[in-house]
Amino acid sequence: MSGKIPREFIDDLLVRVDIVDLIDSHVPLKKTGANYVARCPFHTEKSPSFSVNRNKQFFHCFGCGVSGNAISFLMNYSHLDFVEAVEDLAAFIGVDVPRESVEYSGQQKSADLRSLYKVMEQVAVFYVEQLRTNSEGRQAAEYLKHRGVSTSVARDYMLGYAPKKWQVLIDQFGEQALLDAGLLGKSDTGDTYARFRGRVIFPIRDKRGRTIGFGGRVLDDSLPKYLNSPETPLFHKGREVYGLYELLQKQPKPQRILIVEGYMDVVALAEFGFYSAVATLGTATSQAHIDLLFRFASELVFCFDGDNAGQKAADRAMEQAFSSLRDGRQVRVMLLPQSHDPDSLVREIGVDGFVKSIESSETLSDYFFRSVAKGLNLSEMEGRAQLVNTAKPFLDKLPDGVFKGMMYARLEEMSRVASINVSGGVKANLTSNQKMTRATGRPSSARVAMALLLQNPRLAGVVEQKEIDLSRLEFPGVELFKALLETIQDKKPANVAVLLELYRGAAEEKTIKALASLELLVPVEGVEAEFCGAVESLLVRAREAELDRLEAKAKNEGLNPQEKERWLSLLTIKRCSTK
Ligand code: UTP
Ligand code: MN
Repeated sequence: MSGKIPREFIDDLLVRVDIVDLIDSHVPLKKTGANYVARCPFHTEKSPSFSVNRNKQFFHCFGCGVSGNAISFLMNYSHLDFVEAVEDLAAFIGVDVPRESVEYSGQQKSADLRSLYKVMEQVAVFYVEQLRTNSEGRQAAEYLKHRGVSTSVARDYMLGYAPKKWQVLIDQFGEQALLDAGLLGKSDTGDTYARFRGRVIFPIRDKRGRTIGFGGRVLDDSLPKYLNSPETPLFHKGREVYGLYELLQKQPKPQRILIVEGYMDVVALAEFGFYSAVATLGTATSQAHIDLLFRFASELVFCFDGDNAGQKAADRAMEQAFSSLRDGRQVRVMLLPQSHDPDSLVREIGVDGFVKSIESSETLSDYFFRSVAKGLNLSEMEGRAQLVNTAKPFLDKLPDGVFKGMMYARLEEMSRVASINVSGGVKANLTSNQKMTRATGRPSSARVAMALLLQNPRLAGVVEQKEIDLSRLEFPGVELFKALLETIQDKKPANVAVLLELYRGAAEEKTIKALASLELLVPVEGVEAEFCGAVESLLVRAREAELDRLEAKAKNEGLNPQEKERWLSLLTIKRCSTK
């Protein structure tokens, strides 16, 4: 369905649903104190560190760090994208999702998405039929057979053939629909032409099985060897992979997914009963690809050619993977022997051999440290310093958790810097939560104030009521504190889940989630006092800092009348409060 989901509907949904009921219907929860707990569904663990809080309408796993509201839970748990999760959540409480009507731009006027899907589906069927209907098609069928593709695998992947003549398609669907679907192109002179002609066709289906694009291969050595659909309203190749639907048909819960480069690699592996491979569509592996696949399997294997280009591609894919690598997820990098692709390799060594070589492929951590240490002399200090400098930006991208800690430990070991976390600031990027517990054992006033505000949006009213002047506050993070306050005063979120939703995808999302997960152990009736206390101590500190500055200035260059006045009033406040 097209059209945006109205924001108010989403907010309303997050108020009406109870996250405890929702999660409990998927993962049975046990009540302990204010929280409900379970063994985390997102990583393997023996004792429960997954916790759901009814007041905050928020879940958080202390083990792997995953957290969020009801929508985030469904996205993670049921492998849904945002819109699908909202639809599921609406279904959970039995309401329909309304859509804002959208005004289509001229070009898209006739291209309602639903009819686009239909065109793609029917064209895919047309291409399949072509394999049987005439001598041209039979030649294509012969080509597939010659490449070792059986009819049953061809059926699973809906392989087809695009004939050289395309008038039939135009007669059936009309020019505009085919242009919208990316099946017709327009030449510089304005003539239309069929994109796929005389090619074996690989339909690209989304995870629900809807055809969203096509790939087409020539039957001989002519160039270009492959053509892919252009970007259309349905097809975004940076976000889609080939073969995922077919994989999920065979294995709804795959343990591992192999990412290969070619259509034929996916099909050839399937021919050997290995249905766990998907292919990127002639593009580099993107973070969106990785996130998509991690929704289905906890282990990804990047499978690339062993040559230079392959290694570069592997390096790039690895970089993209870092920020998705929370605990319980694993990436391997499998570089193939020279002049092999998965298609040729599985035909040479068989599927057992192929699986063995996956299992003996390098883990991402081994691959990473080997590749960053390449060319460095680690017996010299300079080499080790370089190692830290190169590795650190990557490790910083890792989500907090055990894996991150282990990667740092390994870096320390390799660089022989025992106290890397203290002196080098290498561990400076721990979450604020970890930072505060490490440093003092209890959160700073700033974090208490921010976390309390976030977890109890009604406190924004207290600030207004008591007319607390926050303009002179100064501490790291004060901008976020003020922005948060403004957001709450402006949007008046009904609960924490609604407030969190406003930060989905924002730069501050990570910090906001960390604040939401902070366990403050303040009883409900003490929340306001605790918050005011924290704000007051921040104000005192800000005044002291200002006083110090003014006194220093008084000594060095003297104060102007306004500054003098401010200095006096600060002194008075200080005397009164210390008496
Ligand atoms: P390869 O050139 O490695 O081809 O391209 P392949 O998969 O081994 O194909 P066969 O075995 O010769 O049939 C890998 C992938 O790169 C994209 C396609 O997605 C292809 O599957 N590609 C390749 C293109 O998009 N265009 C091209 O011209 C070539
Ligand atoms: Mn090949």
